[in-house]
Amino acid sequence: MAPMVGLTHVVFRSLVKSYLPCEIKTLWPTEMLNSRRLPHERLGTTPQTIKADSENDLIPQILGNDELEIKNSIKKLEEWGAKAIDINMGCPVKKALVHNYGVALMGDSQYAKRITRFAVESSSLPVSVKIRAGLQNDPLFLSQFVEGLQEAGASWVCLHPRLAEQKRRGRADWQQIKFIKTFLKIPVVGNGDIQTCEDVFKMLNETGCDGVMIGRALTAKPWMFAKISKAVFPAIKIPVSLPESLEEEAYIYGEALKFFINESQKYFSEDQGLKRWRFFVKVSHPWLNFGHSLFAKSHKVSSYEQALEMLNTFFKAPGLKMSNYTDLKY
Ligand SMILES: Cc1cc2nc3c(=O)[nH]c(=O)nc-3n(C[C@H](O)[C@H](O)[C@H](O)COP(=O)(O)O)c2cc1C
Repeated sequence: MAPMVGLTHVVFRSLVKSYLPCEIKTLWPTEMLNSRRLPHERLGTTPQTIKADSENDLIPQILGNDELEIKNSIKKLEEWGAKAIDINMGCPVKKALVHNYGVALMGDSQYAKRITRFAVESSSLPVSVKIRAGLQNDPLFLSQFVEGLQEAGASWVCLHPRLAEQKRRGRADWQQIKFIKTFLKIPVVGNGDIQTCEDVFKMLNETGCDGVMIGRALTAKPWMFAKISKAVFPAIKIPVSLPESLEEEAYIYGEALKFFINESQKYFSEDQGLKRWRFFVKVSHPWLNFGHSLFAKSHKVSSYEQALEMLNTFFKAPGLKMSNYTDLKY
């Protein structure tokens, strides 16, 4: 699961887990957490750090560039129960560039290496780094950059192969994942534009990467991990029945949105929960025909109860269907 601000919180993780047999293990992220704020927060009480009692397998992602702040953040995250620490070197928003963190760290490979080494030395946990293709298209720079992370002790890297300026536009260039996989000794996780289970196997085959990370498509098809598990281990027992057609997918997507509302009541105030639910609808709706109408309706409800009523009516309408692919707008 890809770390995504406003999305990869306890409710989305618990939705994806609801389809998965307990013997299937994967890496569970948080949203990115700012290392400037983390040392002063009570972890487990902010919406980004709330976790379920059963969640003892989280890999929080930190954003930052200051050694002391990173050290203090890691210490707190270890106490909170982190299983590894991920460093964000991919966030391309203007604020990250101004404050010199996120993808801005890819402008200085020596500094990025130093931050990684420092995080590794400050922690007893594995440290991973999530990067982009860089600030400019330069394979030599990319190779030196990731080799630096490896030397600094990173346990694995995840590459989202888009340049900083592309943000999430254009296509992810999987060839770059294949490229770094040819010389890195540590595992490489590939990320970018996965929309179907077939895409997962395609990325594994085309790039030779060790793992695949899925972001946006998982919001529309939160059962994807379960489908992949079934394809790899046909004998495995999935706790719920999985959709077999695009029409069934639309129905199960509706059920997922209801699950989201019900689960939000355990963790978030109504305002916080609805805000996150609307954002979830915003990112996931392009896969549904009539998704634009669902998105508009999600802004007209002002309570959990109204949201559930709206979903009950909306998903009874005939002709609803998911699509395998959409043009990945968000
Ligand atoms: C709403 C949103 C928020 C994101 N926030 C983060 C983040 O906090 N940290 C990060 O490393 N990447 C973030 N990303 C990027 C994703 O982790 C991922 O690299 C990107 O969406 C490409 O994967 P996908 O095509 O499977 O969605 C975000 C993406 C989206 C859509």
